[in-house]
Amino acid sequence: MRRLLPDPGALDDDGLAEAYRLPPGRHLRVDFVAALDGVIAVGGRSGGLGSAGDRRVFRVLRALSDVVLVGAGTAAAEGYRPVFADSPVGRLRAELGRAPVAPIAVVSRRASLRPDDQLVTGAVAPTLLVTCAAADPDRRASLSAAGVDVLVCGDDDVDLPAALDQLAARGLEQVVCEGGPALFRAALAAGVVDELDLSIAPLLVGGPGLLPAGLPAPAGAALRQVLEEDGVLFTRYALR
Ligand SMILES: NC(=O)c1ccc[n+]([C@@H]2O[C@H](COP(=O)([O-])OP(=O)(O)OC[C@H]3O[C@@H](n4cnc5c(N)ncnc54)[C@H](OP(=O)(O)O)[C@@H]3O)[C@@H](O)[C@H]2O)c1
Repeated sequence: MRRLLPDPGALDDDGLAEAYRLPPGRHLRVDFVAALDGVIAVGGRSGGLGSAGDRRVFRVLRALSDVVLVGAGTAAAEGYRPVFADSPVGRLRAELGRAPVAPIAVVSRRASLRPDDQLVTGAVAPTLLVTCAAADPDRRASLSAAGVDVLVCGDDDVDLPAALDQLAARGLEQVVCEGGPALFRAALAAGVVDELDLSIAPLLVGGPGLLPAGLPAPAGAALRQVLEEDGVLFTRYALR
């Protein structure tokens, strides 16, 4: 891995973690890998766009975060599992002096997480569900009974600023959002995204991209960092 911007030079694993470290305080970063044409999945999953470098960046971003925020569609499509201490992310977190596990927070208007999902039954740090009052009360109650920390944020739809307030009140201030497109669009529209960490794979795929629909207004971004490995670019953009 090498840094192209700022301060060009080689980066070892410690340098990579340093390159993505955040100052203390609340922060929402969104992590995506996309093809050159902005497409974010091959055959319905992101794995076809991945590379060794992208997997290392993914692990670093998880290791540096207090909580992983993800839309219910992505959690289902990608088969999300809890973070375990005995995993590459868990070990990296311990090396960085952090608690080895971090919770996953699933965003679902309908509270569509199942009580027998591995995110519920296997979680070391209890999984959170970010939902709203319109979600079926019985579903919410059964998830609570199964050990899920259910956050009701908003009436008819999930109020993302309120959700981030509730996460911060639990000490979960530094959030990595791993998509997907519907959640990313809602977070941009709500003005809560601080940073986009976009890995750009040297592929052209064709198909749906980072955002499923137009934003109320284009969101500007400032380029802060570019890394490169095997033709993949790893960018950090500041938003807002
Ligand atoms: N390349 C990458 O880095 C990357 C990253 C992530 C995902 N992906 C790909 O994206 C695809 C999934 O796309 P998607 O649009 O379904 O993903 P998504 O945004 O994760 O999921 C959409 C679902 O999540 C819930 N949701 C999202 N935003 C919400 C909000 N603001 N308020 C309330 N609920 C919200 C809703 O669930 P309910 O219907 O349960 O209410 C919604 O139906 C998969 O193919 C995946 O591989 C790629």
